[in-house]
Amino acid sequence: MNIVILNGSPRPQGNTAAMVAAYREGAESAGHTVTVFDICLMHIAGCLACEYCHKKAPRRCIQKDDMQLVYPVLDEADMLVLASPVYYHGLSGQLKCAIDRIYAPGYPRRLRKAALLLSSGSPNVYGGALYTYQHSFLEWLHLEDMGVFMAAGDENKSPELLERLRAAGAALTEPDEHNVARLVIRAGDVEVQASLNQTQAARDLMNRLPLTVSGVDSGVDYCCELKEGVFDEAEKQQGWTDGDVSVADGWFAILHSGQDQSQDYRVMVVAHLDDEANAQIRALPQQVTFELSLDEPYAKTATPVNDGALS
Ligand SMILES: Cc1cc2nc3c(=O)[nH]c(=O)nc-3n(C[C@H](O)[C@H](O)[C@H](O)COP(=O)(O)O)c2cc1C
Repeated sequence: MNIVILNGSPRPQGNTAAMVAAYREGAESAGHTVTVFDICLMHIAGCLACEYCHKKAPRRCIQKDDMQLVYPVLDEADMLVLASPVYYHGLSGQLKCAIDRIYAPGYPRRLRKAALLLSSGSPNVYGGALYTYQHSFLEWLHLEDMGVFMAAGDENKSPELLERLRAAGAALTEPDEHNVARLVIRAGDVEVQASLNQTQAARDLMNRLPLTVSGVDSGVDYCCELKEGVFDEAEKQQGWTDGDVSVADGWFAILHSGQDQSQDYRVMVVAHLDDEANAQIRALPQQVTFELSLDEPYAKTATPVNDGALS
């Protein structure tokens, strides 16, 4: 898989750099493609909050600095690794600037996994960085945690630490079915699950769940009013496959039938029901209230691999 590492340390020969090098070595030995950005050697300004990326040019940042080098690589990455020295209990300021600039693409297109590498002077100083990782990455971007690696004081650059990181990098595997989030659709006693895709609209919907929507069967779909969220016009498609679920233009729709006559419609597909689940939807009464929720089999709380104590 493609792995992008954002290294937020300003010291090229420092403790964080050693952690990054070991993790990279392990991941590359397992056949993964790793790109490291040394954020502190780049010119990356903070976010201007101008909303150009949301209002004028979807997913594009108006600031033409070195973050433009990061964006295309991030959009092709399956895994994001944040690496930083601990500064005042958080990530370095330079790395924080780069993180804030992810606001432009919103949901990088392929990301499924994440890891966190932290170096500090003292043990047990990781609360701020862990909070950001848990809430802004694992939960907001719906990523699977591949571990939090921390080194304090003398642990930095120790052979044990570096070996542990090499082994963790070498153990990484491609995202698979296990990493796919599911939209749970419940109507009365009927409960089915649709596999969510990686579109902006799907990830935005995940952050809006749980929701309750009501609609009527038109013969080809259950069409329910739902206030529009974030979506990328370029990700709309022509026509649908029976069992597709779409969200856009003020509607949530379960497109249970009619795929052969659907070519004239542009739809924003966010999820898909298999044939058996779609048959259960087709059998529902004409007017239905759906309760929508999220199932993420891979979701968990960030797991420190060590807590500033390697032995
Ligand atoms: C501005 C600054 C703030 C720091 N804040 C903390 C801190 O809050 N807690 C801590 O244990 N170490 C702190 N440190 C120490 C670094 O986290 C530690 O030396 C780390 O190993 C440096 O990593 P590096 O070699 O990759 O730069 C701070 C260092 C600097 C320069």
